[in-house]
Amino acid sequence: MLRATELAQLLLRPAVQSGAWAIDATVGNGHDTKFLADLVGPSGRVFGFDVQAAALAVAAARLDGRPQVTLQLCGHEHLAAALPAEAAGQVAAVMFNLGYLPGADKQTTTRPATTLAGLAQALDLVAVRGMITLVLYPGHPGGADEAAAVRTYIARLPSNFAVAHWCRLTPAHPAPALLAIERRS
Ligand SMILES: C[S@@+](CC[C@H](N)C(=O)[O-])C[C@H]1O[C@@H](n2cnc3c(N)ncnc32)[C@H](O)[C@@H]1O
Repeated sequence: MLRATELAQLLLRPAVQSGAWAIDATVGNGHDTKFLADLVGPSGRVFGFDVQAAALAVAAARLDGRPQVTLQLCGHEHLAAALPAEAAGQVAAVMFNLGYLPGADKQTTTRPATTLAGLAQALDLVAVRGMITLVLYPGHPGGADEAAAVRTYIARLPSNFAVAHWCRLTPAHPAPALLAIERRS
């Protein structure tokens, strides 16, 4: 069975064309950043955000000089301010992979307030037919509260956003879950 992170990439693939703009809101080791960079190609742009310099260093090595990527040591709660003004309504994909970096300090984790701030800004940035994905980890301390906060927020989205939710039910519940939001108009 696909993992939530793999399913996020599968869902996003058709939404991201060569030359598009995309955001990795939680760069970590850079797997999703590289995925987005290869979809948009050298004529596109990918903006990556993380609060850990060590994570960005690993990601930069993985990205191997891809010129379409800009990495920022900055929280995703500052997404809108960190992007050019013309990005509003033009971003094909925004990926959030919440929680902490595997193998790193578990205290440096995403938090409900900053996640919701970043998500609100991503909703303004995403293009029509563009998509936002969030991988939620309800199994770690604080993760269930964060997942609940995101679900509550999403339940109140206006009708021009379609939302899908995927979660494996067994084994190992609570398992990671995926939320995918598409802007329809
Ligand atoms: C699950 S990891 C991301 C894994 C990544 N997608 C990869 O491919 O390796 C979550 C990341 O979110 C980062 N993070 C925590 N708070 C953040 C914030 N406010 N803004 C951006 N990134 C944040 C952590 O430092 C961590 O690297």
